[in-house]
Amino acid sequence: MNACHLRGAATLPAKLRTTAALALAAAAFSPAPAPASPPVATATTATAATPAPPEAATTQRVQAIAQRLADEFAARCPLAEPGDEAALNQCRQALYADDSALRAQLTGASPEARVLWGRQRDPQARLKETSLTQFAPDVLTNMYLPLFMFNGEHRVEWVADEKMYRIRLRTAFRNRLQPGLFPYPFWHDAEKWAMYQGANEVLLWWQPEKSRITAAQFTVHGTMPALAKNPVLPAPTNFDGRWMWADAQGRTQPKMTLFDGLFAADNPHLAKLDGAYRQFALRLREGQCDSCHVPDNPHKSKRLVLLQTPAHAAAEIERVIKSLRIDRMPLDETGIEAPLDKHLKQALLDDGAAFAKLVEAAKAWEARSRSAAAKPAAGGQRPGGIR
Ligand code: HEC
Repeated sequence: MNACHLRGAATLPAKLRTTAALALAAAAFSPAPAPASPPVATATTATAATPAPPEAATTQRVQAIAQRLADEFAARCPLAEPGDEAALNQCRQALYADDSALRAQLTGASPEARVLWGRQRDPQARLKETSLTQFAPDVLTNMYLPLFMFNGEHRVEWVADEKMYRIRLRTAFRNRLQPGLFPYPFWHDAEKWAMYQGANEVLLWWQPEKSRITAAQFTVHGTMPALAKNPVLPAPTNFDGRWMWADAQGRTQPKMTLFDGLFAADNPHLAKLDGAYRQFALRLREGQCDSCHVPDNPHKSKRLVLLQTPAHAAAEIERVIKSLRIDRMPLDETGIEAPLDKHLKQALLDDGAAFAKLVEAAKAWEARSRSAAAKPAAGGQRPGGIR
């Protein structure tokens, strides 16, 4: 990877770290704001039969969607110091919220929607040939897209080969966060960590057929320069093979995966989540689920499902329970269904259900507390948590 363009540092003085000031700072850091109606380019890798181009009305609709998304990213996830935890959490809360423009475009009309996520290693590679991870909108909006900062500059292009629109958003990655503020140690793979740090664009793939974003990528091969020239950093910690660990104070990390900074600190269900996940994780290990559903992707899945942290598992728990009930999982190393011992299956179902119940309770508490905060007369003010 060419890291030359990452020299130098762009930092903000600490006093600028307030919501209003960040919005101003974003404007100051974006000398070339996106035009009101960005041109639509057509990107193809010349094939024999070119699929029909989209209708003008659809293109206009996607342009309007792109503008809304870009505005939301710039307002809620503006350029900040790359280690600024408060800026990260502000962005997480905004993108995760039920009413975020991003969430609406990830989910579309399908509450069961999954979105593919990963790096763009080869700009010529087709999505179907690219290894990507399947995420529920909860995971992408809480833990992955908020790792990036934006200024609203974007481009929309129709990619005939994919029959999809590609929204390019100029970006920079928050590479100085503490290790517990990444969903897992990206530095388990040096190339992955380098590409996250060097990213200059986030790509959102909008599919007309499903009328939503079905894939998202980050790339160092973008057409716009990175938003900030943060120096490339070595791995923040040594990776010892564990996706979760305890820090020097004995706290479970990555804390981001325990909804820390996303849900309010006084959410009464948070304290129990850690233990409930540990219990469930033990069962996943007994069922050997962790021989496949982990970030280093031992099984080389092209559509990996991750279960190795509370937030990852929480978003997949319904599918886990369903897969177990119909004996679809686990698979053996040849990909054939390998039924579990019935006691282990029951334990997985029970501990999975207990964990799922806590996750639901924590989410419901947030929702209630949010609507109370929206009516100050009834509920009063609540610091932190989702607004
Ligand atoms: C040998 C590898 C392997 C093992 C072991 C394994 N899985 Fe899977 N699992 C897969 C593959 C492959 C898929 C298809 C998606 C993908 O490529 O990740 C999948 C898909 C899933 C899905 C998504 C199902 C859907 O609705 O599409 C869930 C949930 C899941 N596995 C849970 C589990 C659980 C729980 C265990 C342990 C009891 C387990 N898996 C063990 C390989 C494995």
